[in-house]
Amino acid sequence: MLRILVSGVAGFIGSNLTQALLEKGYAVVGVDNLSQGDLLNMAAFREHPHFTFVQEDIRNEAAMIQCAEGCTALVHLAAYKIPRYSDALDTLHINTIGTESFLKAAVEHKAKMVAASTSDVYGKNPQVPFDENSNLVVGNPDVRRWAYAISKMYEEQLMFAYHERYGIDIVPLRFFGGYGPNQNLTWWGGPQSVFINMALDNEEIPVHGDGQQTRSFTYVSDHVNGIIRAVERPEANNKVFNIGANREITIEGLAHLIWGLVRGPEETARIRFIPYETFGKYEDVQRRIPDIARARELLGFEPQVELEEGLRRTIRWQVERRRQLGISTPDPVNA
Ligand SMILES: NC(=O)c1ccc[n+]([C@@H]2O[C@H](COP(=O)([O-])OP(=O)(O)OC[C@H]3O[C@@H](n4cnc5c(N)ncnc54)[C@H](O)[C@@H]3O)[C@@H](O)[C@H]2O)c1
Repeated sequence: MLRILVSGVAGFIGSNLTQALLEKGYAVVGVDNLSQGDLLNMAAFREHPHFTFVQEDIRNEAAMIQCAEGCTALVHLAAYKIPRYSDALDTLHINTIGTESFLKAAVEHKAKMVAASTSDVYGKNPQVPFDENSNLVVGNPDVRRWAYAISKMYEEQLMFAYHERYGIDIVPLRFFGGYGPNQNLTWWGGPQSVFINMALDNEEIPVHGDGQQTRSFTYVSDHVNGIIRAVERPEANNKVFNIGANREITIEGLAHLIWGLVRGPEETARIRFIPYETFGKYEDVQRRIPDIARARELLGFEPQVELEEGLRRTIRWQVERRRQLGISTPDPVNA
């Protein structure tokens, strides 16, 4: 039985990936320090005979080398995201030092390493859709939101440097906006999490800026599918991939869509626009859509879950999770 080490196992993508890997017959060692993740996300597989949980910080290099014992692949997902409401130090430290400790474990055990990068690395590049050769354009260091993109660019470079020097196979995956069951219920989980909560509570949806910035949202089973293909296929080795769905939608459009699914199509969404200045010095990405030709060709990757259907499933899950947490929640009208 093949054994895989997954970091960030109590998080959104990590828990969904682990469930799928166990169903496919892999053994999984999952690491998480529970700083952002939730034990509830692991409830479905915590007692699985082929699953082992290690509560540890990924920056503990000796511990990661030990966790990776007997693993043929390491999937590195643990990270901190855009520091909207705090300083950038955790994002910079965890994402760089943590990645290096995983790379050392991969070298020690001659394992392949697949790791989460992000669409945010394309930053302010206005030329959409982004393919993997598009320029990565970020802003100045007094805008701390770029710390996330920069930490992931460093991660990608470090992976290629380890590949060149030590010969391990690596695959950085640039995920585009994920959503689905086990997503974090705050901004950490993305705008859709917060928008669903607000619609369920019949409160104004906070939309940053004028809401005309666009994103493409990817249902988590599609991300998981892309990760598993990157792990299993040698054609993936030592290349970067965009992994995401490519339907473009404005953030204001997303707010209307979610309001309609939660409260019914005849209700007008209650939206409050929040100026970017609220976050201090901030810069947003105006348009973000992937070109997924490389993933299609080399991984056979094709997003399967269309946005409305994915949101319906996510809303139903979020209703259940809120009730588990004791939050009073109405039945959604249209999900
Ligand atoms: N979800 C998305 O839309 C998205 C988009 C682009 C990239 N990504 C990347 O994908 C990966 C997974 O994202 P996610 O949405 O599942 O995030 P998440 O926050 O839900 O999960 C990350 C997990 O890592 C854990 N963690 C954080 N720091 C740790 C540390 N020092 N040691 C051990 N564990 C630690 C957290 O407790 C959490 O459970 C991340 O690398 C993220 O940057 C996600």
